Amino acid sequence: MAEQFDVKLVEEAKYYTPRPEYRENAWVRNYDEEYARFLKDPEAFWAKVAEELDWFSPWEKVLDWKYPYAKWFVNAKLNVTYNCLDRHVNNHRRNKVALIWRGENGEERIYSYQMLYREVNRFANGLKRLGIVKGDRVCIYMPMIPEQLIAMLACARIGAIHSVVFGGFGVTALNYRINDTESKVVITADIGIRRGKTIPLKTLVEEAIINAPSVERVVVLRRKEPKVEIHSGIEIDFYDLMEGVDPYCEPEKMDSEDPLFVLYTSGSTGAPKGVIHTCGGYMVGTYYTSRVVFDLKEDDIYWCTADVGWITGHSYILYGPLAAGATIFIGEVVPDYPDAGAYWKLIQDLGITIFYTAPTAIRMFMKMGEDYPNRYDLSCLRILGSVGEPLNPEAFEWYYRVIGKNQCPIVDTWWQTETGMQMITTLVGEKMRPGFAGKGIPGVVPDVVDKAGKSLGAGKLGFLIVRNPWPAMFRTIYKNDERYRKYWETIPKVYTVGDLAVKGKDGYIMILGRADDIIIVAGHNIGTAEVESALVSHQAVAEAAVIGKPDAVKGNIIKAFVILKLGQKASDKLKQDLKYHVRMTLGPIAQPEDIEFVDKLPKTRSGKIMRRVLKAKELGMDPGDISTLEE
Ligand code: WTA
Repeated sequence: MAEQFDVKLVEEAKYYTPRPEYRENAWVRNYDEEYARFLKDPEAFWAKVAEELDWFSPWEKVLDWKYPYAKWFVNAKLNVTYNCLDRHVNNHRRNKVALIWRGENGEERIYSYQMLYREVNRFANGLKRLGIVKGDRVCIYMPMIPEQLIAMLACARIGAIHSVVFGGFGVTALNYRINDTESKVVITADIGIRRGKTIPLKTLVEEAIINAPSVERVVVLRRKEPKVEIHSGIEIDFYDLMEGVDPYCEPEKMDSEDPLFVLYTSGSTGAPKGVIHTCGGYMVGTYYTSRVVFDLKEDDIYWCTADVGWITGHSYILYGPLAAGATIFIGEVVPDYPDAGAYWKLIQDLGITIFYTAPTAIRMFMKMGEDYPNRYDLSCLRILGSVGEPLNPEAFEWYYRVIGKNQCPIVDTWWQTETGMQMITTLVGEKMRPGFAGKGIPGVVPDVVDKAGKSLGAGKLGFLIVRNPWPAMFRTIYKNDERYRKYWETIPKVYTVGDLAVKGKDGYIMILGRADDIIIVAGHNIGTAEVESALVSHQAVAEAAVIGKPDAVKGNIIKAFVILKLGQKASDKLKQDLKYHVRMTLGPIAQPEDIEFVDKLPKTRSGKIMRRVLKAKELGMDPGDISTLEE
């Protein structure tokens, strides 16, 4: 990744300063002061945030830190949904719009806090009816529709641990996640809709549960008319499950450290990692950041374009914004259907004020030209956000000028599935520096260090780390605590992120990308090992190695080098077959764009594939130290 390090950019300090009103009206008016307040007494800082939320019983201690394990808000009792729903229903937000949903064809559904509360209560009682109790795992594999959020909140209400699987994943990926969590129930829909086509989610679930002994029931939301048939016994209709239940479901009194959900993220080696987040700290961390990073105000309409199946959706569509009492918009929409003006039309028509998207989408819009956004009135926009990969300066400038009309602050937020909450950004009102995400959010102490953990000065490329525990940090990797500890033990005493970064003289941090074998394709993390094992599971393949190749729009694309088994013949048809095979196994996001058949792969003497060498060769660069290379 070091090849993308642009020294010039670190030296020439170019800033954009938002209009003074932004700072004057922001929740946090002075970053330095807020940060100093945090540093002076971190526990008091977080306690003050937590006090803004509702707890059934208070904590005895804010933080119990026994490296590398943290407990936050020790022994406090709460329910996250009480904070996302009841709290608002019991006050002036009762009839405030909580959720606006649009489908591709313009279909619209709106829920007030009161309406959402009722649906969640009823669905929670429905889940109880299926025998789901606190601690049970429930897999949710649904399209971007309100019922997906309702299902997640219903799990949280009764203390069931949801495991949301992105609707774009294939059968094998889904099956792995169901089995690893031993989910008792899978909640799905008959179909998802994308670019006018339907995706047969239920059919994929049927296949994915063939070798999944834990699954007792499948709840199916039926969207299509006439309604698809339901297999009695195992399947049950989403709304039938809510029929005749009590309209109120007492929120389960959760301990602060009880798990809230598990969410899988790609690892650099082997199987995906089930990241565990807990109730108390996660709620406090996502609430605080939603409020101050987006500077959420009562009359904002906030749109995060991520899928709920990713951490961004968990933290910044659902839990954080609802805890803050926001009006959120979600859509089963894509940026370029029916045309590349789709998002801009929605922003204009709904009066979106805060828009949070990914660099890959911004670069795609750049490619499509300014005509599309210029056709719409985007003056309702107040704040723009970015997440998922580095927001390169060109994309920053385009976003700022064409979408924000040189008016809107851009919050480039760096964080991860593991961190649960945003960690680095430039708060609204502060001067922004293209190419740099910014500084640690109050509550977070990031740094750039060398391999030994020594802090590096300005302009030096190193590893991004976080020095102190933070409330929304993950607590473990499901059934694999060793992998959790690795994050804190790679460089002793600090959390090693896995990204490369560089600090400017001003303390702003530029993130350069992954330091390991994870490839970020259009904002989605893909583990090389996962794609390689999908390729090798094809009968024609003996060995495979996968690298990320820089791409102007997607950030990276996947290129695979494949050694065929004896007797197999390389052909374009076989390339297509292999792509299709990966698509069906892992899902479209993991499909290699390019496949090259080779006779040999560069390996270390111990047999590890040296992807670095393949990548250097592919990009026509110096492969660096190859002393461990076998052939
Ligand atoms: C990358 C997504 C640069 C980074 C919330 C990180 C970013 C990985 C940014 C986590 C950003 C995320 N600038 N890089 N603003 N945000 N990343 O777990 O490499 O899907 O380690 O969480 O995305 O991806 P994940």
